Amino acid sequence: MATIKTIGVLTSGGDAPGMNAAIRAVTRAGIAKGFRIKGIYRGYEGLINGEIKEFTTEDVSGIINRGGTILRTARSTRFTTDEGMQMAYDSMQKKEIDALVVIGGNGSLTGAMEFAKKFDVPCIGLPGTIDNDLYGTDSTIGYDTTLNTIVECVDRIRDTATSHERIFFIEVMGRDAGFLAQYSAIASGAEAAIIPEDRRDVDQLEEFLNRGIRKSKKSCIVIVSESPKCGAMYYADRVKKEFPDYDVRVTILGHLQRGGSPSAHDRILASQTGYGAIEAIIQGQRNVMIGIRNNEIVYVPFSEAIRSDKPLNKKLIKILDDLSI
Ligand code: F6P
Repeated sequence: MATIKTIGVLTSGGDAPGMNAAIRAVTRAGIAKGFRIKGIYRGYEGLINGEIKEFTTEDVSGIINRGGTILRTARSTRFTTDEGMQMAYDSMQKKEIDALVVIGGNGSLTGAMEFAKKFDVPCIGLPGTIDNDLYGTDSTIGYDTTLNTIVECVDRIRDTATSHERIFFIEVMGRDAGFLAQYSAIASGAEAAIIPEDRRDVDQLEEFLNRGIRKSKKSCIVIVSESPKCGAMYYADRVKKEFPDYDVRVTILGHLQRGGSPSAHDRILASQTGYGAIEAIIQGQRNVMIGIRNNEIVYVPFSEAIRSDKPLNKKLIKILDDLSI
């Protein structure tokens, strides 16, 4: 296997708070261990276009506290084609990049896996997504910050919900996973969560309403995982139709969930996994995501990390049910 002298780092897919802390960790740990580090802008698009700059330790100064990603990001469709991948590979050759660290979610790590297979390029992944849907790591970079942002928003909405005695359906992100919805519902004391992993309530809207509002509660918060067909609007419309007496409102939190300064937890996770990526390269690890499980760094093969069935702890569904009476 060829010696690795230069490592390229990129962020890809949806940005997540803590990505900058991860870029900083990869850059500084890499330089400390004698590698050259090159920042690749706009994810795989920038790799294809050769938008690449060598980083010094100063280039990543003052970014650990900043949301978003200084490298910018993109969802590259070109990189999903043979032609695009070939251009990305050619660009790596031209810029003398021997290995890649990819910070991103499911789609980005799937891209890294395909690329590594096709061109035998060493790729290491860092779990960077607010969705927490990567298998094999307890948490992903950005998830904790987003969870806290949601809880802060729900606390605010509860003030007005209580004052007006209204039902609020609050839609949160998560793509196909219900982590953000389920955990934010528990943390904010919501009456219910509607998540993809537990569709038992899809046709039992009445159960939500009975669970609280018809007894003693005059207001109610339901957190709904985003969904093209049955998001918060869908439920609100149904309640309005079936229970016209209730005063119903909808809040879609949208992209405000993705911004903001990363929490201490996300900064530490990003620093540990970023540092771990460089150690993994030195140890000869290839094509794995660096995760943390039970406080230990773990190497998760890409194929395992991108499995779509990261299990949500089902006990939390029961806990939310029982605590929201
Ligand atoms: O994967 C992160 C995420 O924020 C998802 O929760 C959401 O479904 C999606 O990205 C939104 O993507 P975009 O910013 O491209 O609209």
